[in-house]
Amino acid sequence: MKNQTKLTAILTAVCALALSAAAQDAKPLPPAATKTGVTYDGDIKAFLDTSCVHCHSGDKPKARLKLDTLDGILKGSRNGKVVTVGDSAKSVLVQAAAHTTDDQDEWMPPAKAVSKYPNLTDDQIGLLRAWIDQGAK
Ligand code: HEC
Repeated sequence: MKNQTKLTAILTAVCALALSAAAQDAKPLPPAATKTGVTYDGDIKAFLDTSCVHCHSGDKPKARLKLDTLDGILKGSRNGKVVTVGDSAKSVLVQAAAHTTDDQDEWMPPAKAVSKYPNLTDDQIGLLRAWIDQGAK
């Protein structure tokens, strides 16, 4: 019986975890970093390489969006531009990484991949915003 009690406790905990994960809400957009002179090579590439490039590079990039070169990012996906140069808040790239959309399927990296490819931090999103607002150079 003791084991059964334990099992029930474990199952309850697992369910609670699953529920709290499912109940996550869209987040407010972190502010742009105050740093000036933000560039793709100097400030952006390293963290996109860590969190995004595994799926968004090569011959068959997801959503046909390549995130491993500046050209690829500016070109966009099968659905069009993901960066609105000069307006980071309107940029799909930022919205996806910052989880501001109600549809969690649009959150990047996909939830099931986050253990391998971590979510961007608020500081990284701030840099991404500053970079786009400053002209995406
Ligand atoms: C584990 C694989 C994986 C990782 C890692 C990943 N993505 Fe994606 N991404 C996808 C898939 C799959 C889709 C297509 C989703 C769909 O079609 O519904 C997608 C779609 C997108 C889109 C939407 C493109 C469009 O216009 O429809 C954007 C923007 C995007 N990803 C950005 C990112 C960013 C930024 C990161 C890193 C912070 C990232 N992705 C990390 C798999 C990944």
